[in-house]
Amino acid sequence: MKIETERLILRKWTLNDVSAQVEGLNNFETSKNLTVPFPYTEENSILYITRHFEEDDDFAFAIELKESGKVIGGASLHIKNDVGDGGIWLNEKYTGMGYGTETWVARAKLAFEAFGLNNLNNGFFEFNNRSRHMHEKIGYKIVGQSMRFCPALNKEVVEILTNLSRDDFYEKINSTKLKSVYDKVKIDL
Ligand SMILES: CC(C)(COP(=O)(O)OP(=O)(O)OC[C@H]1O[C@@H](n2cnc3c(N)ncnc32)[C@H](O)[C@@H]1OP(=O)(O)O)[C@@H](O)C(=O)NCCC(=O)NCCS
Repeated sequence: MKIETERLILRKWTLNDVSAQVEGLNNFETSKNLTVPFPYTEENSILYITRHFEEDDDFAFAIELKESGKVIGGASLHIKNDVGDGGIWLNEKYTGMGYGTETWVARAKLAFEAFGLNNLNNGFFEFNNRSRHMHEKIGYKIVGQSMRFCPALNKEVVEILTNLSRDDFYEKINSTKLKSVYDKVKIDL
């Protein structure tokens, strides 16, 4: 499977991506928002990449810049009982440029249009205001909270739990500038 957006390609991880994944994830500023191991080693990366080659309904994408081929992050979509969850991270050098929103819209289009799901569940740590904004911008609603262990911080933190319904997503897409982001997403199953 391959997904194209205006500026990005989302595709399967390969072992050639180990160094880009380690560069992105072995960074406290990134990992403090995630549940990945910290420090993040080549061994962690190889385990992650090889594990995801084998599974159905469990997609893990490298996020590649079309222009340069540079792998700048990752996103995932795990489907269970017709509901999707998963996450996203970007290499710190590439944050704040709209790539997260572009990926999040593409992932929701994959879930709702290609796979016919009705709901996506996600979450973010309570201090992660950028992720909170990105979630709300595409229509996610807050549905609860729970405690989650963050390896980089080495403690339990509050995770705000979110849900995106198909209706809420399309309401945002059809009433904001995200429509042009959405329209440029091409999904090749
Ligand atoms: C969270 C993340 C994926 C967002 O991707 P991004 O490309 O940096 O975000 P975008 O550029 O698409 O911007 C998201 C929005 O947040 C806004 N924003 C940025 N910093 C913010 C802050 N501190 N508080 C509130 N909003 C903020 C931006 O202005 C933008 O909104 P706008 O388009 O309406 O102006 C990325 O920053 C990242 O990987 N962070 C580290 C790992 C992580 O937090 N992963 C998510 C775990 S839930």
